[in-house]
Amino acid sequence: MKDTTSVVILAAGNGTRMKSALPKVLHKAAGRTLAGWVVRAAQEAGCAQPIVVYGAGGDAVPKALGDSCRYALQAERLGSGHAVMMAADAIAGSEYTIVLAGDMPLVRPQSIAYLEGQARAGGYSALLLSGILTDPTGYGRILRDEAGGVTGIVEQKDASEEQKTIREVNLSFYCFATADLLAALKELSPANAQGEYYLTDCIGILHAQGKKTGAMVLNDVSQCDGVNTRAHLAAAAARLRERINRAHMEAGVTLIDPTASYIDADVTIGADTVIYPGVILEGDTHIGSGCTLYQGSRIADSTVEDGATVQNSVVLQSRIGAHAQVGPYAYIRPGTSIGAHCRIGDFVETKNATIADCTKVSHLTYVGDADVGRDVNIGCGVVFVNYDGKNKYRTRVGDHAFIGCNTNLISPVEVGDCAYIAAGATVTKDIPADALCIARAREVVKEGWARGRYETHEKKEK
Ligand code: UD1
Ligand code: CA
Repeated sequence: MKDTTSVVILAAGNGTRMKSALPKVLHKAAGRTLAGWVVRAAQEAGCAQPIVVYGAGGDAVPKALGDSCRYALQAERLGSGHAVMMAADAIAGSEYTIVLAGDMPLVRPQSIAYLEGQARAGGYSALLLSGILTDPTGYGRILRDEAGGVTGIVEQKDASEEQKTIREVNLSFYCFATADLLAALKELSPANAQGEYYLTDCIGILHAQGKKTGAMVLNDVSQCDGVNTRAHLAAAAARLRERINRAHMEAGVTLIDPTASYIDADVTIGADTVIYPGVILEGDTHIGSGCTLYQGSRIADSTVEDGATVQNSVVLQSRIGAHAQVGPYAYIRPGTSIGAHCRIGDFVETKNATIADCTKVSHLTYVGDADVGRDVNIGCGVVFVNYDGKNKYRTRVGDHAFIGCNTNLISPVEVGDCAYIAAGATVTKDIPADALCIARAREVVKEGWARGRYETHEKKEK
């Protein structure tokens, strides 16, 4: 697509049928907002910065989409033609303008580029994509003369009984010569059934001026399906996931059940990774090759390196090193970096912690605000006591250290390389390298102390 073509995305609608506090176009499907999908399609078609017309929800739309777009505010919702008028300044310098609706997340970049190419090649003032539907109810109908030329569009609410039988419909997907569009917008009037400035009237206006107008029938009309309800949202998300999942499978990823693999749009996955049902990969997540992600894991904004295994675990804003094993039932909270070949087992929680290569934290342990060296063994039920009720402190554990079961490391504290902590310790002082630490009450055994106790006391009560 030429860079003298603008793209205007209409996203000012409030989406009443979503019954939501969020503007409709900010609802997400497969990890990206509905408007975000359309913006991305426009960018993939070659338009660096599409113009988004927004209205509902204050500045929520510009905030969510950021500087990937330019914005025009439509403060009052006076119709699709009025919405494009709000973008008049933004498109003024361009030769051609594509207009499409912001609630069509399935739109293909190829269709945008094709429409633009055909409009330019054919010297059209207005060229649009239409669809032939078995049930055209609700759509604007394409009006053609005997020769097949497009003479205009009539909205459902303004259509005569005869016009309502037309099955060729407007999909809200247009390409205009910008100067002609701007001139036609000035001619619009709200004298129609809905009292709105209809963008669709521009086609009739341009045709009446003797300009070239046309419509191309799109085979895959479903890419223009609008999202108006939560049911539509779920259907669109399912189809986007289907596209995403197919691409991963083509690139060598095994999805045991693609209908139950929830992979966001921007996630990358290496070849020979195997993903079991119920795995959710969100946001800026990157999975290496040869990984196994077993059922029920949620991994968000994280990196999992080659050959790692994750099972039934939650991983947030963290890194899991190559060939590490995580789970089942581990909770890897933000700021965790797990080294290669580590083993993070069941009911282990980590947060803001670096754990170097080959370290094992196998069961029932909390590692928070810590730097743990390599090849460390952390026993069962260890707690890094990082919070005194007011402040958080950091703990350091040296390489090859051994932390016995049920140890409490009261931060800030340092455990030297190769140090050994006997089980049940509450450690408050630094432990030098190679030292043994025993920090528990000495065991006292009183022989015969309990003899007869069961007979005289416990048994009576039953
Ligand atoms: C519109 C078309 C209709 C077409 C249908 C396809 C018009 C007049 N009619 O009808 O021919 O068959 O789409 O789905 O355009 N918008 C704004 N500001 C407004 C009004 C609308 O931004 O003031 C945006 C909406 O957010 C939406 C698009 O324009 O993205 C279409 O508006 P909508 O009201 O949904 O029009 P339809 O009645 O569906
Ligand atoms: Ca404990």
